[in-house]
Amino acid sequence: MEKLSGILVGSVNILGNATLVYVNTTITDSAVLECSIQNKNITDWSNVRFYWQDNRDFVLYSYNEGRKMAEHVNDYYKHRVTAFPQDIIRGNISIIIKNLTLEDNERTFWAFAAVLDGSVMKKYHLEHTQICQVTLQIGVPYQNPRLDVNMKTMTAVCTTQGGFPAPEIQWVLLYTSSHQSVESRNIQTTTMQNYHDRLYSSRSTLLIPAGPHEAVSCLIHNPTLNTTMRATDTFSKGAGVTSSPECLISAAVFLLTALHWL
Ligand SMILES: *[C@@H]1O[C@H](CO)[C@@H](O)[C@H](O)[C@H]1NC(C)=O
Ligand SMILES: *[C@@H]1O[C@H](CO)[C@@H](O)[C@H](O)[C@H]1NC(C)=O
Ligand SMILES: *[C@@H]1O[C@H](CO)[C@@H](O)[C@H](O)[C@H]1NC(C)=O
Ligand SMILES: *[C@@H]1O[C@H](CO)[C@@H](O)[C@H](O)[C@H]1NC(C)=O
Ligand SMILES: *[C@@H]1O[C@H](CO)[C@@H](O)[C@H](O)[C@H]1NC(C)=O
Repeated sequence: MEKLSGILVGSVNILGNATLVYVNTTITDSAVLECSIQNKNITDWSNVRFYWQDNRDFVLYSYNEGRKMAEHVNDYYKHRVTAFPQDIIRGNISIIIKNLTLEDNERTFWAFAAVLDGSVMKKYHLEHTQICQVTLQIGVPYQNPRLDVNMKTMTAVCTTQGGFPAPEIQWVLLYTSSHQSVESRNIQTTTMQNYHDRLYSSRSTLLIPAGPHEAVSCLIHNPTLNTTMRATDTFSKGAGVTSSPECLISAAVFLLTALHWL
């Protein structure tokens, strides 16, 4: 079974009954580009004709005289796009695009329709009017982040790769059940994009500040898929974090010296 994961994100009315919609979807999944003709004057849908095209004027789907006009469809969309015949007869001209790739990211699609009124005059109710506009936003989920903590240098390093778009990285320090976010001056993040597959990898370093923290978490957020992955490292039990172990030793040495002089 094919997984269907179009998340309908938001819509704003433009041009009367035409709507502008964003759909966020995962790569390799499918997305439904929804569109319904809303016109009370139309009672007979048997003469509906419509087509969908993208912002390069490539035709995705073309329908006339009760059938798909495959010859008008661009090779790029051949075998990837189907309509819902049982819905077309109700004025619902939605289509589904399968096997989404990053090539489809940020692409906008428009539906145009015309309906013959059935009279001998061959008049149209709609004359290839733009009915709907949909923009796809494709995401690639990030792999589980990897977190390495070095208690000597008091640094934590979080790495992740293979996602799209660029991740949003957040650090939190945990103490019993409370969370504390970290000041940005203690964080250094570098993000790189692979030229070939367009996927991002990220490496973030946190200088762990002194405090009673028991654990540190790194959160990787994918803004398009609205998913967050977390990696957590629990410091050795009981030992809170002081500024650095070297400091602790010199303080102890100083204390011993001071005691000696008493
Ligand atoms: C319906 O038809 C009437 C009469 O022809 C016309 O004035 C009106 O604009 C039409 N409504 C729509 C939504 O097309
Ligand atoms: C879609 O992807 C699947 C799995 O990657 C593949 O088997 C299938 O041939 C693809 N279909 C099209 C139309 O590209
Ligand atoms: C139109 O058809 C699609 C595909 O079956 C469906 O997902 C959508 O809910 C329908 N929309 C309306 C307004 O009926
Ligand atoms: C859809 O993706 C865009 C671009 O990454 C993002 O700004 C938006 O918040 C996402 N919407 C949802 C519902 O996740
Ligand atoms: C992302 O998902 C959370 C719940 O997991 C939700 O509260 C939030 O509104 C979503 N963000 C967007 C932009 O849709």
